[in-house]
Amino acid sequence: MNQSTRAHWSGRIAFILAAAGSAIGLGNIWKFPYITGENGGGAFVLIYLACVAVVGLPILLAEVYIGQKARRNAVEAFELTHKTGTYWRVPGWLGLASAFLILSFYSVVGGWILDFEFRSIINEFGGKSANEIKGTLTSLFTNWPRQLFWHTVFMSLTVAIVLGGVKDGLERWNKILMPALLALLALLLVRVMFLPGFGQAMSFLFSPDTSKLKAAGILEAVGHSFFTLSLGMGALITYGSYLKKKESLPKIVIAVAFIDTAIALVAGIVIFSIVYSFNMAPGAGPGLILVTLPTLFSQMAGGYIISVAFFLLVSFAALTSAVSILETMVAYWTESHNVDRKKSALIVGVVIYLLGLLSVFSTNLLNSPQFKMFAGTLLSKNGLTFFDLFDKLTSSYFLPIGGLLIALFFGWILGEKAIKEATKSDNKLLNKGLLWSARIVAPGAVLDVLLNLVFEWSVLRWLFGMVFG
Ligand code: PFF
Repeated sequence: MNQSTRAHWSGRIAFILAAAGSAIGLGNIWKFPYITGENGGGAFVLIYLACVAVVGLPILLAEVYIGQKARRNAVEAFELTHKTGTYWRVPGWLGLASAFLILSFYSVVGGWILDFEFRSIINEFGGKSANEIKGTLTSLFTNWPRQLFWHTVFMSLTVAIVLGGVKDGLERWNKILMPALLALLALLLVRVMFLPGFGQAMSFLFSPDTSKLKAAGILEAVGHSFFTLSLGMGALITYGSYLKKKESLPKIVIAVAFIDTAIALVAGIVIFSIVYSFNMAPGAGPGLILVTLPTLFSQMAGGYIISVAFFLLVSFAALTSAVSILETMVAYWTESHNVDRKKSALIVGVVIYLLGLLSVFSTNLLNSPQFKMFAGTLLSKNGLTFFDLFDKLTSSYFLPIGGLLIALFFGWILGEKAIKEATKSDNKLLNKGLLWSARIVAPGAVLDVLLNLVFEWSVLRWLFGMVFG
């Protein structure tokens, strides 16, 4: 595509909505609550928040800037802002690998949400107890044809929206559905304030107890800050490449990170208020929201409508994120290999769909010791399913390492001039602060966490121990 005719967002607000649409998704509503539950609450939340502020923001700025400057896909953007043939294409490649793996399991979880939307519509949860709802979830996990069906629907919708292109496909939906999701979450927040478990949920989430946090939990918190902000794989380079050059970035970036974090926290408060009000287990794992929310809806006035609306909006939030992942790959194949946009969306979509089968079968056919052992030799002694493997590999390793490289590229290769251009400001404190956080702080934090994993010692862990004893 010719650079001057390349598609672009209609303006600043459209970009914020699109970037927020990418950031806000299953990561906030499905993943954040369940991994917070598994990692003991407050201390995990604190590390996650610190990472968003200290590591996430500079990398978010770097990605959008690189895209906006190069007006090109996530692999070539590094070349265009630096020089052709540079090794700095590597983070772009790594990003594409992440995109493949993430979308493959993301679509399966998106399928679970669609399934729960369908069950809400036929009023399957009305009047059911928490235990009965848990039974529904177990039956979904063991029923692979049903998961396969919804995975097919989810992936088809994702491909269809990407085929519609930037303006017609992405923008139109984001404008209506993101604000609607915010409104519904606010409503649920008000509702759970009247539940008996609200106070306990607040202290679970906001009073840090470091004894509950393990090294793996710290890695998970760092990894999640990347996953939830869509960082480390070039999705925001790609979206930034459709942003007009005159738009200034710092406010945009702060707005996106703020909305994303707020949504995760509200989702957490809602979910754990239900957990503590109905005596559920906080560490119930990936099915957490699918058990807690229908339990609340089944007992709530207007629960039927709220349930239908909620799962619909979460499905859309998941779709807008999935679309940004697919778009990252499609932009690359379209621009760099001259493949027709439709053709590349279809081919990439089918390949990811097939890879997703491994996640579909992870909770049933492949959930056997033999298969778990295979994955187990790579990452964990206890064994992981393919689903867990793809999730861990990308969130805990690929995205943070990708982000680390992007920060280094921004801070050391592009340097001061680029930072000034990105902030469009002469404020020395801001520019120097960003320069050094891209050069040292953000990469240092990621390295520190990896250090922690290998040697079980890290600066962050040591500091955390000093402060919280
Ligand atoms: N940020 C999305 C979420 O929280 O659901 C997931 C995601 C989208 C991850 C795009 C990575 C990405 F590039």
